[in-house]
Amino acid sequence: MNSNIEPHGGTLVNGRLSKGERKKYLSKQDSMPYISISNWTISDIELITNGGYSPLCGFMNQKEYLSVLENMHLTSGLPWTIPITLPLDKKEAEQLKIGDEVLLRGKDNKPYGVIKIGEIYSYNKEYEALKVYGTNDQHHPGVKKLNTQGDIYVAGPVYALNQPSHAPFEDYLKEPAETRKMFNDLKWSTIVGFQTRNPVHRAHEYLQKCALEIVDGLLLHPLVGETKGDDIPADIRMESYSVLLDNYYPKERVRLVIYPGAMRYAGPREAVHHAIIRKNYGCTHFIVGRDHAGVGNYYGTYDAQKIFSNFDPDKIGIKLIFFEHSFFCKKCMNMASAKTCPHLEEDRFFLSGTKVREMLRNGEQLPPEITRPEVADILRKGFSNNV
Ligand code: ADX
Repeated sequence: MNSNIEPHGGTLVNGRLSKGERKKYLSKQDSMPYISISNWTISDIELITNGGYSPLCGFMNQKEYLSVLENMHLTSGLPWTIPITLPLDKKEAEQLKIGDEVLLRGKDNKPYGVIKIGEIYSYNKEYEALKVYGTNDQHHPGVKKLNTQGDIYVAGPVYALNQPSHAPFEDYLKEPAETRKMFNDLKWSTIVGFQTRNPVHRAHEYLQKCALEIVDGLLLHPLVGETKGDDIPADIRMESYSVLLDNYYPKERVRLVIYPGAMRYAGPREAVHHAIIRKNYGCTHFIVGRDHAGVGNYYGTYDAQKIFSNFDPDKIGIKLIFFEHSFFCKKCMNMASAKTCPHLEEDRFFLSGTKVREMLRNGEQLPPEITRPEVADILRKGFSNNV
């Protein structure tokens, strides 16, 4: 018995070079043209080349990009909601020509990948912001990021040259092919993926455990790529996940693996993106709760669930498990949602990552209705060391 769910588009992309080819590029790296890239782009390269973004094997050309913005599908007809693009300043782009092989160097000057340039095009930032984020407000972190990046996109297939460091979480790093193998070894045939950029609070735990009642295993897949400044740093979160799993989860039914992507805060569109990526990692189910990948008040509470009605479920190919806004009810003495609890608003503790951060900032104790005491301890210590 194994899951063997089909990757998006049917085949897991492998953008790794053979040893010989990699050596060839590295030996001529000093004479090759290069582009300086951000950490955000480094994480995109990692996900393109490890198969997480299958069927993409490079940065999108203009036709693909516009198809994603306008139709939320690739030109092949497969659902895809987030543009995966390589931005560049005009001046830098003028040095490049179609067919060039160009190194992609991080701020540390390390070449993380090589791109074969297939297309160079300009784009409209306002249009992209409105399509992807549903707003052009500069305060939205995704819009802000878009407005500080270069005005030109460079497209083409990408190959990995160096694996970005994920220290100190290397032990939790697995590529889609590896998580797929892990699920097979564990003999899990149904696996629920859980995306988070927050410490796991009681509402998250509730959703995960409800899902665990109906599937074989849980992939806790926290995002450790770039997040906005006031999100809780990944090292504190990772510590909190470990202590939670050690104390409150059955070991044989959960695996913690890092997801190296960057957070877009694109709400509904990012929920689809997250689901497709988890399918590539081998999950058969994916949890979407309240305001998934949201920020501020830009999206409606359930927009990230409603968006899925725009797609053929067979083409999405991973089963969605939608959850209502859940809370701790003081009368039920339990986690619940409006679907299961008859009590009044004032009996309910509503939980969110924002609320947890706010309480930590104000030096308030996180009660057990919000987080497990072991997690609260780690967050309090981590937070006071970080501010
Ligand atoms: S994010 O990546 O979606 O921004 P976050 O950590 O805030 O991560 O949430 C992880 C998942 O839990 C998302 O699917 C979100 O919708 C869901 N979620 C978070 N809090 C609640 C809640 N109180 N009730 C229901 N779902 C929730």
